[in-house]
Parts: sequence; C-alpha cells; structure tokens
Amino acid sequence: MMEKRNSAGIIGTGWYVPEKVITNEDLEQMVDTNDAWIVERTGIHERHVAREDQPVSDLAERAARMALEDAGVRAEDLDLIIVATMTPDRTIPSTACILQDRLGASKAGAFDLSAACSGFAYAAATACQFIETGVYRHILVVGAETLSKVVDWTDRNTCILFGDGAGAAVFGPVDKGFGLLSFDLGSDGAGGDLLDIPAGGSQKPLTAESLLMHENCIHMDGRAVFRFAVKILGETVEKSLERAGIEKTEIDWLVPHQANTRIIDAAAKRLELSAEKVIVDIGKYGNMSAASIPVALAEAVQAHRFKKGDLIALAGFGAGLTWASCIMKWAKED
Ligand code: ACO
Repeated sequence: MMEKRNSAGIIGTGWYVPEKVITNEDLEQMVDTNDAWIVERTGIHERHVAREDQPVSDLAERAARMALEDAGVRAEDLDLIIVATMTPDRTIPSTACILQDRLGASKAGAFDLSAACSGFAYAAATACQFIETGVYRHILVVGAETLSKVVDWTDRNTCILFGDGAGAAVFGPVDKGFGLLSFDLGSDGAGGDLLDIPAGGSQKPLTAESLLMHENCIHMDGRAVFRFAVKILGETVEKSLERAGIEKTEIDWLVPHQANTRIIDAAAKRLELSAEKVIVDIGKYGNMSAASIPVALAEAVQAHRFKKGDLIALAGFGAGLTWASCIMKWAKED
C-alpha cells in the first residue's frame, strides 16, 4: 500500500434508533411465524422501526449530531459527508446532501455510498484515504437505514429480519500508527439476484403491477445468502489481518454486521475469537444493514468497552454481493 502522510481513525461516534419497537410476538400477529423459530434461527428478539413520516435523514441527523459532539468537531468544520444507505430519502438528492443541509455543514462535500450492509466498512475505508493523503481533516460517515419501508410485511422469510437505525462516526487525523491499519473491499455482482429490490430503478420502473407484486420490497434467497455470509465474513477479516501483518490472536474486538447470530458465531469460530470479544446487539435491533456496524460500534464505545490501542476488526457483507472489513487500532482515550 502507498506510504501514508497521516494516520486516520475514528474520533467520535453516535447512534440513534427510532422509539417504536416491533417484537417477535407482534410479528406472530402479522405472518405465520413464532418467537421460538425467530430466536433460534436468527437471534433476533425485537427491532425498532421509524414513524411513517420519519425519513432516513432524520435518523442520520440524530446519530451524526451525537458523533460530532463526541468528537468535539463542529458541523462547519466537516470537509466531507458520506452516507451509506440502501434506503435514501429520495433517489435524488442524495441523503448526504440532505444531511449536509440539516447539519449546516457549510464547507462539506457530500455523497451517498451504495454497498448495502457492507456500506459502513466501505465508507470508513474511503473516508480514511482522504485524511491519510492530507487532503481532508474531518469526515462524517453515517450508516443509516429505514428498512421497514422496503420490507414486505407479508413475507415471513424477510420481514422478521430487518430493523431501522443509524450509526455515525467522525474520522480525523490520529496518532501515528493508530486508526485504520488495513482494509479489504470485495464484490461479486454475479450474486446480485440473491438479494435485491427488483422494481423502482431504471431496469424496472415502478408500475401499479410491480407494486401489487411487492417488487418494490426486499427479495432474498436466504439459504444462499447464508452460505455466502458464513464463508466471507471470516475470510475478509483474514485478508485485512494479513495486509496489516497482524495475527488472529491479536484481535481484541470483532464488530460484525448483525444479520444472524449463526453467521456471527461461524466467523468468530474461524477467527478463534471467544464470545466476549464479539460485539453482538442483533437481539434488540435485528439487521439494520449499513447501520448495524456503526450502531454496534457506538454502543460499545458508550459502554466503555474499547481502550486506546485495542485492535478492532469491522466486517460486513450484503447485497451486491459485497463484503468489506477494516482493521483499526483504537485511537481514542476512554
Ligand atoms: N417463521 C417460521 N418458519 C419460517 C420462517 C419464519 N419467519 N421463515 C422461514 N421459515 C421456514 C421455511 O419455510 C422452511 O420451512 P420448510 O423446511 O418447510 O421449507 C424452514 O423454516 C427453514 O427455512 P430456511 O430458509 O432453511 O431457514 P434458515 O435456517 O436458512 O433461516 C434465514 C432463514 C434466517 C433467512 C437465514 O437463511 C439467513 O439468515 N440468511 C441470511 C440472511 C442475511 O444475512 N441477509 C443479509 C441481508 S444484508 C443486506 O444487504 C440487506
């Protein structure tokens, strides 16, 4: 990798989930499912969902304000805003631009990043490149989703899995040798049909018929995605570790995408990590796609779990297919 001018890392974190909760018992009233099946097969007990009038930018703003305060950075001092989301407020303008306006980040560039559940790890690696080269100092990265608005609430294969939320991190220059040490970004577009929203884009614009068929909602081949995820989550972390010259045994924390506890357990086993080193919050939030990793990260920070110098692996996978991991040496004093 190219010689870095600066080390770049996380200097503040924040998160937000909407107030309304849907429990597994609530879902029993909506589709043919039961709490025991959902808990055993996924680890999920409940998930939060946004109000009908609450766009994803609202969730993103709340998480972002908390992260800016934690970092001691003013919105006016942000150079760039990246929002990772698959549920933007609108196709255009980008949610990042809406957030830029809501925050008053007057000198920031802004764009959305589309990598589904891998979005936060993709965006973190992207943000650090600008800081490492010295081009920018402060970058806000937000993973935010309102998946409840693209879920088919009559499909028990998918509606039990997802939830809404937002997590944010401010990236900036950190002590030399801290922050992002290495990353791995991957894709396999041939698997695109395994997990998609078929209608609403240029290939199949929305029609009355596609709405009737719920083609504006998430469709997924759960078993195929499961097989892919079990393999890729551990594999991408191993690649990043190799690039950083770090052994598995040196990892202090794994912050994985929260799609299914069985997928997380398989990755932890492959990486020889004991359960205490793995951050898991899927039980209360479900799969929040791009928001899962930053919410888990921000909650762990708030619970004082990380100390300066800890080696943290972030790892995600999702639609695309995509996957991404980052190895970070935690740069903040608790
Ligand atoms: N309640 C009760 N029974 C159910 C439910 C439900 N909600 N859903 C499915 N079943 C049934 C099935 O119909 C099937 O019955 P059958 O054997 O009579 O056909 C049985 O339970 C087993 O179904 P499987 O699909 O084999 O169940 P599996 O153990 O694979 O779990 C799950 C399904 C949870 C979806 C799993 O496959 C999974 O987690 N896949 C990965 C999902 C994922 O990670 N997605 C990432 C999304 S990230 C992004 O980018 C958005």
